[in-house]
Parts: sequence; C-alpha cells; structure tokens
Amino acid sequence: MPQGPGGVLISREEIAVRVGELGRAIAREHAGHVPLLVGVLKGAAVFMADLIRAIPAPIAMDFMGVSSYGPGTRASGAVRLTADLSVSIEGRDVVIVEDIVDTGRTLDYLRRNLETRHPRSLRVCALLDKVERRQIDVALDYVGFAIPDRFVLGYGFDLGGLYRGLPDIHVLEEQAAEKGPSASLAPSAAGST
Ligand code: IMP
Repeated sequence: MPQGPGGVLISREEIAVRVGELGRAIAREHAGHVPLLVGVLKGAAVFMADLIRAIPAPIAMDFMGVSSYGPGTRASGAVRLTADLSVSIEGRDVVIVEDIVDTGRTLDYLRRNLETRHPRSLRVCALLDKVERRQIDVALDYVGFAIPDRFVLGYGFDLGGLYRGLPDIHVLEEQAAEKGPSASLAPSAAGST
C-alpha cells in the first residue's frame, strides 16, 4: 500500500510560534556572543531557515550532512558523515540544529564528532523529540515539540526525499491507490537526514 502525508500533527501556525520562542531563548542564552548554528542536512534546512530569522541577534551558520536511514521508515543504526563543516568551531559557541531526535544515534555521533574540535560551548536545538524511541541518552537544550512514535512528513521531513516542502508537519499514512495524485507520488523508502 502506498504511503504519504496524512493528517496534520503540528500546524504551520504552531510551528511559527514555537520557533519564535526557541529563537528568543537562543539569543538570551548567547547574549554577548555570536553563536554558530550548525544545521543537520537535509532535514533541518527548513527549520534552520526559520530559526535564524527568529533570533534577534547576530548569528553565524554552517551545515553538516549525515545519513542514518536505510530503506524503510526506521533508521539503519549506522551514522555516516556526508558533508563536513566549512569553518573551524574551535572556541566557538555552537548550537546543533536538528530536525528530530529519534533513537538519538545521529545526535550522539554529531556531538562526539564536534566535541573533538574543541568548541567553547556545544548546545543542541531539536524541533521534534520522539522521546519513546530513544536508545541513546542525549541532552537536548532546546526542544520544539515532544511527539509520539509516529513517522512525520513535511516542514523538512521527508519520505524517500519527498514532501520536505509541505508547510505543516503531517503524520505518515497508508494511502489507497485511488485516493489521488499524492498516492501515486508516494515512494517506497524513507530518505536520509
Ligand atoms: P536518530 O539517529 O534515530 O535519532 O534519527 C534522527 C534522524 O532520523 C533525523 O535527523 C531524521 O532525519 C530521521 N527521522 C527520524 N524520525 C523521522 C520521521 O518521523 N520523519 C522523517 N525523518 C525522521
């Protein structure tokens, strides 16, 4: 059965309000410093774009690419670096910007990797937290929403590379073939971060 976006779990309006709060919190806790926000590609790109505009202070940004998903909607467990930072983070105040923390493996990998580069501080901002799914205990400094164990799509979240551009966050749903064009577009494998 094809799969695609189902009902809205978090609306664009709710996202906008929460992103504003996160942005102000990041500015407050980095007052007097210029934090370097490190977005985790590709999922966090949409969140990152909104978050930097919600921080009422100077910031710098960079991106890292990691891949943790094999076929299907469950992570394979192995995390791989697909793109590295373009700047040194030594002595910087770094905030990792993640789309979602699921098992915690990706974030654990990133944290360890970045810590070896001696930042002055290292914090984590995750839009979504799938608390029930956690396998590795990772500390989160800023969290948008805690969500149940449902696969989500939209606002940067993909299934097989699709649906990242949807403005709201949807749950994944089985779609009957006759339901319309989105069903025929539905891919069979989940994408990477
Ligand atoms: P973790 O390593 O298991 O914590 O997985 C983190 C990564 O898995 C995230 O950065 C996402 O790219 C991906 N992921 C986890 N859950 C979902 C989901 O519900 N929708 C889309 N991607 C997800």
